[in-house]
Amino acid sequence: MASKVTKIGVLTSGGDSPGMNAAIRAVVRTGNYHGLEVYGIMRGYQGMIEDDIIKMESRSVANIIQRGGTILKTARCKEFFEHEGRKKAYDNLKNRGIDGLVIIGGDGSFRGAVKFSQEFDIPCVGLAGTIDKDINGTDFTIGFDTAVNTAVEAIDKIRDTMDAHDRIFIIEVMGRDAGYIALHSGIATGAENILIPERKTNMNDLITSLLEKERRKKLVNLIVVAEGDEFGGANEVQKLLQEKLPKAEIRVCILGHIQRGGSPSCIDRLIASRMGYHAVESLLEGRHNVFVGILNNKMHYLPLEAAVKNKGKISDEWMKIVKILAS
Ligand code: ADP
Ligand code: F6P
Repeated sequence: MASKVTKIGVLTSGGDSPGMNAAIRAVVRTGNYHGLEVYGIMRGYQGMIEDDIIKMESRSVANIIQRGGTILKTARCKEFFEHEGRKKAYDNLKNRGIDGLVIIGGDGSFRGAVKFSQEFDIPCVGLAGTIDKDINGTDFTIGFDTAVNTAVEAIDKIRDTMDAHDRIFIIEVMGRDAGYIALHSGIATGAENILIPERKTNMNDLITSLLEKERRKKLVNLIVVAEGDEFGGANEVQKLLQEKLPKAEIRVCILGHIQRGGSPSCIDRLIASRMGYHAVESLLEGRHNVFVGILNNKMHYLPLEAAVKNKGKISDEWMKIVKILAS
């Protein structure tokens, strides 16, 4: 039987996402509630390797539930890809007597945690903190709802000026490998076209429909593009379209990192609090090396290995809805 954890570490890793602070708060306070010592590891795996670790108490996480970013900071850490780096990190945790780890991050951070947990005897629990929502086995990831609402607010504003000028707008949202932000924000703003990495786009059909609009003197069209789409993002799509529609006024807006910041939405605060609480409960109950997800409003635990990218899982139903509602 696994020994009971007494001191846990919590870190945020990879791209930050709104709600990470709410998750940290939940981990610290649930840990304290159970009499555990809780340590904050700064800058993700980098801080683990550099022993940049601080003791956290209930007061350390006061007044952060509403704040974007992460008080623990985050990083992408090259050294953690190597066994040597992970060994350094392990030694630091061991020296401090930390015997459980909560990792809040995306699929890359989980891949790191899988390796770490296979090599060393410190149990890990992952919380899906990513605006991309590209983690398998959970309906929610911390930050997605806020990011999508930020995108919707911005796109609504762009639509006003687009309509006023009868222009084509191509708006690029985040999502290197995943089209969820584009799909959700595009449907919610009535975009005529949504281009995502998971699906092929028929550029000829798109051009034909725009030429037809031009012929009818109704050339106003909103296109939402995920940064990782097959053409290489909004600027590339603009080039392709402008070539075939030389007279059209085509404007590009790249929303960029604005989607990663800001105060987390109510949903993100709630799921972060719930997941943070369950991460500590998992460690205490001996449910190790899993990630905590929510499926059909129930907590759901899958091995960390299973949290691979949810690529290609966007349903045909969604794509049909996009097509019908934009016609
Ligand atoms: P995210 O967690 O948001 O997907 P990244 O993919 O950048 O972000 O991963 C965050 C960090 O996790 C990386 O900088 C690295 O330290 C660690 N990591 C990612 N993949 C691996 C891997 N295959 N092996 C070891 N560590 C990894
Ligand atoms: O994974 C989250 C994410 O915001 C992606 O959507 C985006 O491609 C990437 O991170 C951007 O990373 P960085 O902040 O390192 O430029």
